[in-house]
Amino acid sequence: MLVTGGAGFIGSHTVDLLMSLGCKVSVLDNLSTGYMANLAQWDADPRFAFVGGDITKDLAEPLAAAVAKFGPIQRIAHFAAQTAVPVSMDDPVTDIEVNLAGTARILEYARRNKVAKVFFASSSAVYDDDAPVPVSEDSTARPASPYGIDKLAVEIYLDYYTRLYGLKFTALRFMNVYGPRQDPSSWYSGVISIFLDRAVAGDQITIFDDGEQTRDFVYVTDVANAVVTSLFSPKPDGAIINIGTGVEVTINEITRTILALAQSRSVVKYEPARPGDIRRSVTTMDRATALLAFTPKVDLREGLDHTLAWVRAQKSSAA
Ligand SMILES: NC(=O)c1ccc[n+]([C@@H]2O[C@H](COP(=O)([O-])OP(=O)(O)OC[C@H]3O[C@@H](n4cnc5c(N)ncnc54)[C@H](O)[C@@H]3O)[C@@H](O)[C@H]2O)c1
Repeated sequence: MLVTGGAGFIGSHTVDLLMSLGCKVSVLDNLSTGYMANLAQWDADPRFAFVGGDITKDLAEPLAAAVAKFGPIQRIAHFAAQTAVPVSMDDPVTDIEVNLAGTARILEYARRNKVAKVFFASSSAVYDDDAPVPVSEDSTARPASPYGIDKLAVEIYLDYYTRLYGLKFTALRFMNVYGPRQDPSSWYSGVISIFLDRAVAGDQITIFDDGEQTRDFVYVTDVANAVVTSLFSPKPDGAIINIGTGVEVTINEITRTILALAQSRSVVKYEPARPGDIRRSVTTMDRATALLAFTPKVDLREGLDHTLAWVRAQKSSAA
């Protein structure tokens, strides 16, 4: 099993689940936004291998040692990406190089080495901002950023590789994923990790727009469960599936809950809406239920509790 981007937020939780299920796991990561600390629990495990490498470069050579150790790669979970939407708008060429051309290298590796199945981390950023909510997989795909365009282009490539070479795949379009290990130090990170970090520090929280915009927040271990099911079950072969909770939450609501949970006195400030921020976001659950038997197990309150505990632990170990 190969997990690209396995040192990152969602990738490392997926590695945790795969390892706990007894798989042999190789992680390929260039550590641009990921951390070895996210994988520290598996470092000494003989079923685990870390490969420092870049998906924009040749893959066969860096992966050779892992293949020699564990045998040919049967399945690939592909998370490695440039994940910041604003960065993709400033520099679409780099986004294409990493998210599209880098993924083409993964698909070529999969084809040449007869990999049984590829999972691809797609995004709700493929949808038209004006698509009526809840969005289903049949809603209009009309990305508002190069990041979304490249995610959609990869989905089209996956379909092409299936038709031409019989490559099996599942693409999951994630809604807003949150949980421990989401890096709050970046402005491009998830709103929950940034707000929790600020609430614990007592720093000001900035809400863009009036705070009545909505998001569908899904907890990271639920996402990892969906990924692993998609890798091992034939039912979602060839399918593109939204992964969220189906629950629409306003930014004001989430802020109030975070401030209460963290017992924080952070001041909340409102700033004008940022261009490109969508007003409402929530998914239908029908396809995820039918093809993955997916129902989120961690509700928002419990997920926030876990994430808050992690933010506090990070802060106290840094102090
Ligand atoms: N977090 C979300 O809410 C969300 C929503 C939709 C889609 N996604 C997608 O899920 C995937 C994982 O996102 P995440 O939030 O865990 O981000 P992350 O930044 O924590 O993880 C990305 C990982 O990929 C690695 N990486 C980046 N470029 C690489 C390269 N060229 N070669 C090798 N490794 C490289 C990074 O070092 C990092 O470990 C991404 O594909 C992202 O687009 C995330």
